[in-house]
Amino acid sequence: MTMKLWGGRFTKEENQLVHNFNESLSFDQKFYHQDIQGSIAHVTMLAKQGIVTEEDKEAIIEGLEGILRDLESGELEFSREHEDIHSFVEATLTERIGEAGKRLHTGRSRNDQVALDMKLYCRDEIDAMGELLKRLLEVLLKIMEENLDTFMPGFTHLQKAQPVTLAHHTGAYFEMFYRDGRRLKSIRERMDECPLGSGALAGTTYPLDREYTAELLGFDGPTQNSMDSVSDRDYVIELLSALSIIAMHLSRFSEEIIIWNSNEYRFVELDDAYSTGSSIMPQKKNPDIAELVRGKTGRVYGALMSLLTTMKGIPLAYDKDMQEDKELTFDAIDTVKGCLVLFTGMISTMTFRKDVMEASAKNGFTNATDAADYLVNHGIPFRDAHGLVGQLVLMCIGKGTALDDLSLEEFRSVSPAFGEDIYEAISMKSCVAKRVTTGAPGREAMEKAIALCKARLRTL
Ligand code: ARG
Repeated sequence: MTMKLWGGRFTKEENQLVHNFNESLSFDQKFYHQDIQGSIAHVTMLAKQGIVTEEDKEAIIEGLEGILRDLESGELEFSREHEDIHSFVEATLTERIGEAGKRLHTGRSRNDQVALDMKLYCRDEIDAMGELLKRLLEVLLKIMEENLDTFMPGFTHLQKAQPVTLAHHTGAYFEMFYRDGRRLKSIRERMDECPLGSGALAGTTYPLDREYTAELLGFDGPTQNSMDSVSDRDYVIELLSALSIIAMHLSRFSEEIIIWNSNEYRFVELDDAYSTGSSIMPQKKNPDIAELVRGKTGRVYGALMSLLTTMKGIPLAYDKDMQEDKELTFDAIDTVKGCLVLFTGMISTMTFRKDVMEASAKNGFTNATDAADYLVNHGIPFRDAHGLVGQLVLMCIGKGTALDDLSLEEFRSVSPAFGEDIYEAISMKSCVAKRVTTGAPGREAMEKAIALCKARLRTL
């Protein structure tokens, strides 16, 4: 026997398969806290407006708080016969406090209730994710501060390009995750309107004070169109977009760590606690965490595509299709939170092999641009300088050496503009030190960047 809020006009018992297909309690129980929080605000407003008595209000609030306590302590369990969290809470309340419990749903529909619960849940989760992002940014900042002089090759096309520092490379990810933090904040700001009091779709006939409930629940004000209120899931889609971007950033960084951790690169060594072994190959130490973070990105993108597709053909106002927003959103949130925690742990325990990074930056002609710039500083047009240094590179490839190993005569064989100071000009140290424009890897520029990163972190 299933318990229904809406049994009145039905003559037959619901088919069990229909119940199973239709129910959402198995997953929307996740926001029981927000559901109860919304109900407390609703009944507080009902009493203020004289729609329920003070006495009923107190009984209802006490009952709701008891339910919350008992759910949290595990004393009360979600029973399968209820359709969703809203039905469960209301039925349990009535079971516990009697008649007054039946007055809670006055001037409210599950349609505005679920819209509210979902919004409250998303806001809470955004706050939690913001904290996790901050922790990640702190770890990145620490790596930056400690590695202003750790040289490494910067890549384009995964080919060595120009020397940078580990601080600079890490700083690129700081920018990405900082943007993610701001994106979450601005999405949360757009979740500032409270849908409660919109009813099923057309408002209600009771003199509700929607401004008051909005205020009680920490919103700037109520939503402005009751049909939109119950059918808007834009904020969930925005959140899933932001989560997809976070997952994409985590995935890119994971990919780099997998490459850096490979036997060929050996730029980093993952901590044993964040690595896994093979059941057959005794020598293996695999970067499973980084691979899983990269792999889980697909799930998060999937959630975004799934909800966009669900929403695209839904006529106004509420339709049951929208119940499909929950499992995938919960999964995307939990997935990204898990990835943030594990990724942060992984990179904060990982060892950077600075010597390997530096040695790698020294070969691969990462200073070729600087050799061309040297000629430019001696009056040669850049395009010609590019061609001349190209000849030197070819010469080195033939001999299997680096530019730094060429003799001054060899340098001068392509241009008499080269002098003894070329060696200093193309040394790893000066290649980086000279790059001090805003955003570049040179120490001066990086010190400014780090100061800014610290200030920005405080604003998140
Ligand atoms: N479980 C439903 C959902 O998640 C709640 C709203 C139900 N409303 C309705 N009219 N059936 O969307």
